[in-house]
Amino acid sequence: MNSEPGLPGRSVVLGVSGGVAAYKSAELARLLVKEGARVRVVMTEAATHFIGAATFQAITGEPVWTDPWDVRMPNGMAHIDLTRDAQLLLIAPATADCIARLAHGRADDLLGMLCLARDATCALMVAPAMNRQMWEHPATRRNVATLAGDGVAIVGPAAGEQACGEVGQGRLVEPAQLLSAVLTHFTPKTMAGKRVLITAGPTAEPIDPVRVISNLSSGRMGYALADEAAKAGACVTLVSGPTALDTPYGVERVDVGSAQAMHEAVLRRLHECDVFISVAAVADYRPAVTSGQKIKKSADTLNIELVRNPDILADVAARADAPFCVGFAAESRDLDAYAQGKRAAKKLPLVVGNLVADGLGGADTQVVLYDAQGRHPLARAPKPAVARSILDHISKLMAD
Ligand code: C5P
Repeated sequence: MNSEPGLPGRSVVLGVSGGVAAYKSAELARLLVKEGARVRVVMTEAATHFIGAATFQAITGEPVWTDPWDVRMPNGMAHIDLTRDAQLLLIAPATADCIARLAHGRADDLLGMLCLARDATCALMVAPAMNRQMWEHPATRRNVATLAGDGVAIVGPAAGEQACGEVGQGRLVEPAQLLSAVLTHFTPKTMAGKRVLITAGPTAEPIDPVRVISNLSSGRMGYALADEAAKAGACVTLVSGPTALDTPYGVERVDVGSAQAMHEAVLRRLHECDVFISVAAVADYRPAVTSGQKIKKSADTLNIELVRNPDILADVAARADAPFCVGFAAESRDLDAYAQGKRAAKKLPLVVGNLVADGLGGADTQVVLYDAQGRHPLARAPKPAVARSILDHISKLMAD
């Protein structure tokens, strides 16, 4: 989703151990490089049976390291030097054997040595991948607990179909999600401890079993806010209407269809949130009745009676125990007047306004923030960058 590099100036050592999922590490290396990171790959001997060093060398533009006796480093000590200017050592995939060796502090291969020799400025993140029985084995559980106790970040594994044909937990977390974990690691935790509830996307108001009334909202702005808030350390719940977007890393997602379902889902979770950001393009009206059967075409015209939907944001903001509420106003004209009017009518500390021609459904947007101090226009930018500015503004208002 991000269109500006998120890791410029960062240096990552990517450790690859010998599992089938090693082929996914090539994609991970590509994503890290695309984000502007310097990536140096260290492979175990077993990993070289699954994927060639030349692949990583071509993707990263850096020599690949496997042998502890390799003397290409200026002082001939790859096991020390490789992590000295790196801020992160990420092992993906980390096999059961690799994890066991780390847990016991083994240093009989280059990757093991690096893990021991790294200093406090280089964090260690491990993405396990193995057969589900190996993952569930008490020995692996003990080893993973040991690593976690040593301050190692464990990402995954994911559940699903495995290379061996079995189904369960043990898949390597997908490269895009691993990249999110890395970006999260490097993002300052400006929202640590904050609980944020966000609505996003359109709603779908059923006419009959196959038809709905909906709108053109893509959900991208709400998802970008959820993603950026989670990266900044917030605990985020995303109540989402129908979208084609992936759930941001570390975000709890609740899928809903209609405005009424969204209303219920929000009210149920309200007691556990400090900030409510209402980005969803909630349908103002729904069909008065939903036909149980598919409506057949017969007459030349068809009238559908519509009734008002609950205003979720207004309901939340009116509560005595209301969290910090942020509204959105997408208007086709007179943005200042409508957005400020909405802020006053719904008693909101902040409204984010945009002209629909400037943002609805697209990757970029141009918004104006309206608060008690007045209007604060933001430059046109990709939605993740706009999301960060909005979250900064929210943090500032909450601190005041
Ligand atoms: O009044 P209007 O619909 O333009 O207000 C837009 C804001 O109110 C958005 O933040 C939207 O998410 C929220 N809203 C809502 N429930 C509705 C209609 C709008 O929460 N039924």
